Amino acid sequence: MTTRVALRRDAGRIGPESGPWIRQRQVAKIWGPPDPASLAQLVDHRDVVLGWGLLAPDADIPLRVVHWGATPPAEGWFERRLAAALAARAELGLATDPGTTAYREVNSEGDGLPGLVVDRYGDDRVVQLGTPAVAARRAAILELLRSRTPGRVFVIADEAAPEDPAATLEFQEHGLWFSCPAPPAQKTGAYLDQRDNRRLAAQLAVRAAGPMLDLGCHVGGFVVHAAAAGVSAIGLDQSARALEFARRNAARNDLTDRTAFVQADMFGALDHPDLAGPFGVIVFDPPRIATGSQGRERAVGAMARSLGRLLPRLRPGGFLLACSCSHHVGRSDLDAALLAAGARDLARVHALGPGPDHPVWPGHAEGEYLRVNVYQRRDV
Ligand SMILES: C[S@@+](CC[C@H](N)C(=O)[O-])C[C@H]1O[C@@H](n2cnc3c(N)ncnc32)[C@H](O)[C@@H]1O
Repeated sequence: MTTRVALRRDAGRIGPESGPWIRQRQVAKIWGPPDPASLAQLVDHRDVVLGWGLLAPDADIPLRVVHWGATPPAEGWFERRLAAALAARAELGLATDPGTTAYREVNSEGDGLPGLVVDRYGDDRVVQLGTPAVAARRAAILELLRSRTPGRVFVIADEAAPEDPAATLEFQEHGLWFSCPAPPAQKTGAYLDQRDNRRLAAQLAVRAAGPMLDLGCHVGGFVVHAAAAGVSAIGLDQSARALEFARRNAARNDLTDRTAFVQADMFGALDHPDLAGPFGVIVFDPPRIATGSQGRERAVGAMARSLGRLLPRLRPGGFLLACSCSHHVGRSDLDAALLAAGARDLARVHALGPGPDHPVWPGHAEGEYLRVNVYQRRDV
């Protein structure tokens, strides 16, 4: 029996333009077995079939549409999309770049596979099974991935217990060596979405003649890239574990003499003497501080307070990278945080996002989460 998800009369216009997420408040009733392994039918209030999706009946998003139209996708759609996602990375040149061995191979809705994230670290993979529907397909996913490369596969799922809590992942990024903790860790281990921005920030730091201050440095990505480009750089993070890896990564690339790391709160006083500046580049990359639209104002306020402390430490001509990894804090919110911090002399010179291994499916606005605004300080 096919499970049917019936929309309310007032659910609004539903179709490819509204994106794949059907929310609990749009659903009138769910008929049939709550089987996450099979495809559920989406019907409107007149019983017209609109599409087919992956079911999680009790979640805030009970259905994620994978195919629009009256007929279901052809048998084997999941495996075909998974293979297509892997092939797309090769077509993008990522799988063949010897200097970059970590990248996202499957980006959930962006690759038509809601709930599934696969990150590649050298021969190893980290697989995130974010919904019951992809967890139900675990065996098929792992079989396909294991048939491609011989490395280890770490699976992040609700019930997952770490096999080896001390395990690490090793990779190269634009020719530099990194290691990061294997799951359980932040993200899948490292923040691969900022890969190309780390290289750009290093180039800007050279133009601004350094030094760089990197707040929320995690395993030292921005710092190591800047130091490798020839400028000195200071990383700040709250996590002792992240800083341990950051120091290790600086040493591995023989950059200890140009790097320093400080354990501190990026929303705190920022009064450590090493943070006094002036800096040629400041990177402000906080964690996801707004998980819903209600949190936006609070997040902008918190960012504004920190940016207010930091802006006097940015040299004229220098660059500020203000980042948001929350869909709810957009580019104009980053602008608003700067204005609230008193900035009157900053021009936005780049509007960046993640690399091409983090695709967004048109219509899926929530898939757009990472915004990196680059501002240059002008003498006005
Ligand atoms: C979005 S990640 C930054 C990623 C990093 N820039 C990179 O390129 O890999 C946010 C970082 O902020 C750190 N963090 C979270 N809360 C913090 C706080 N209050 N003060 C300082 N660091 C914090 C986390 O440990 C994490 O490393």
